[in-house]
Amino acid sequence: QSGAHVPVLVIGTGYGGSVAALRLAQAGVDVQMVEMGMAWDTPGADGKIFANTTNPDGRSYWLRTHTKQPLSNFLGFPIDREIPLYTGILDAEEFAGITVYQGRGVGGGSLVNGGMAVTPKRENFPAILPSVNVDEMYNTYYPRANTNLGVGLIDPAWFDTTDCYQYARVGRKQAQRSGFPFVFVPDVYDWDYMKQEALGTVPKSALAGEILYGNNYGKKSLQKTYIAQIRATGKVNISPLHKVTSVAPAVGGGYTVQIDQIDTTGNTTTTKTVLADKVFFAAGSVGTSKLLTMLKATGKLPNLNGQIGQGWGDNGNVMVGRANWWWDATGSLQASIPCGGIDNWAAGGAFAEVAPLPTGIETYASFYLSITKNPNRAQFSWNAATNKVDLSWQQAWKQPGIDMARSIFDKINATEATVYRSDLFGVNKIWGDLLTYHPLGGAVLNKATDNYGRLQGYSGLYAIDGSLIPGNTSVNPFVTITALAERNIENIIAHDL
Ligand code: FDA
Repeated sequence: QSGAHVPVLVIGTGYGGSVAALRLAQAGVDVQMVEMGMAWDTPGADGKIFANTTNPDGRSYWLRTHTKQPLSNFLGFPIDREIPLYTGILDAEEFAGITVYQGRGVGGGSLVNGGMAVTPKRENFPAILPSVNVDEMYNTYYPRANTNLGVGLIDPAWFDTTDCYQYARVGRKQAQRSGFPFVFVPDVYDWDYMKQEALGTVPKSALAGEILYGNNYGKKSLQKTYIAQIRATGKVNISPLHKVTSVAPAVGGGYTVQIDQIDTTGNTTTTKTVLADKVFFAAGSVGTSKLLTMLKATGKLPNLNGQIGQGWGDNGNVMVGRANWWWDATGSLQASIPCGGIDNWAAGGAFAEVAPLPTGIETYASFYLSITKNPNRAQFSWNAATNKVDLSWQQAWKQPGIDMARSIFDKINATEATVYRSDLFGVNKIWGDLLTYHPLGGAVLNKATDNYGRLQGYSGLYAIDGSLIPGNTSVNPFVTITALAERNIENIIAHDL
């Protein structure tokens, strides 16, 4: 309600926002969550809530009239198509040098992601978040995050025999033939459900190629975990299709938050003003960074420090495909949920997930998403001429990540006498290097904030999402985002309530 006064307002309903809202509600606090995307709780005309990867429609993209698929081409042909303008689930947000993919809706990135739920190796943690106590994270907060997210591992015996992971077994064999360790990657997908999909006894999700545009059945998105717990407290109100546009100190204390209510074509229907005692920025690395950069530059929150907008990285994401010989068929049925990776982090700076290419036909292709130790960091800045926030990332900054990924795939290609695919990211383009799925940083812990996410310069303002992590987590990020949020909110509840 416009004019309302709330104790706590949380901007965004992804991992960081969900952890904050749940723990605050359990501590007895009433929480208002504001989410610019849709609720994703109502089936469309086809009876399903989410669209399939092979048949994108308006539900698939955030306010676009043309899809922008991460794999833009197949066998040399562009595969993007026209769709109706709609507040769809996947945002392909374009900056000058990189497209940043993000989830939009109640559940944030958990709606669109692959569910790969990876805890970094302990020895790598000090480089990820140097000011955070390693024992506390590995003894308390990572286990807490893994339990609440519902993380599980594929049954290795089933992996060895099921048709839908033929592609991953080829990935394992080829990694091992080149001397690289292959590791199973945990996921929040319900593995028992997937076994039933393979038996044909339940509606298919992973085995119907669902990923990127939502998952109708087997994946435990935040809707089924943290947000279900949040609803059970009865103390949290969630407002979808509401976008925060401003936060500024209010006369007499607290913060005035301005919110646009939007319709499903993105038009503002109402503008609301809410007074909040405390505000948690959980709009994701890009969303939080854009808001804070704009608010500092335009004089709404001038006391935020100079670290705002700094330290942004792409988690070293690069994608690549390889063409196999006919004896290494990868299967026409591919589970959309990756379950294994190639670990060359210590020696080559790359951790490569063996990813599906669920086209429904045999492609003889192996496909990988690599996370690399790319050291490049960008910054957000306010552009007064366009009234927008820019990101300084440049296309050429992916090169270190490509070189690190090549530490794995050049060797595999040499061993197998195979070549890279050059038809997936354009015409004669080998590397998927114009995008990231893993934006991190922009309000870095212990720099833009104190060591628990309190924004410097104001009391009662917090960052509690991927913006806290300076650019890289060595693996997929959401378990670390969740665990860090669990750690920070515990400290905030103990000292600030
Ligand atoms: P997150 O982005 O989840 O949530 C932020 C929310 O805030 C969004 O719902 C957004 O709409 C909302 N918002 C933004 N601005 C707002 C405003 N002004 N007002 C109101 N609301 C606003 N990670 C991983 O660990 N394993 C994986 O397998 C994958 N796979 C993957 C695939 C794809 C396609 C994508 C796009 C991403 C992944 N990821 C992933 C990344 C992972 O999903 C991501 O790191 C987390 O969702 C980030 O969590 P946050 O809490 O930081 O924000």
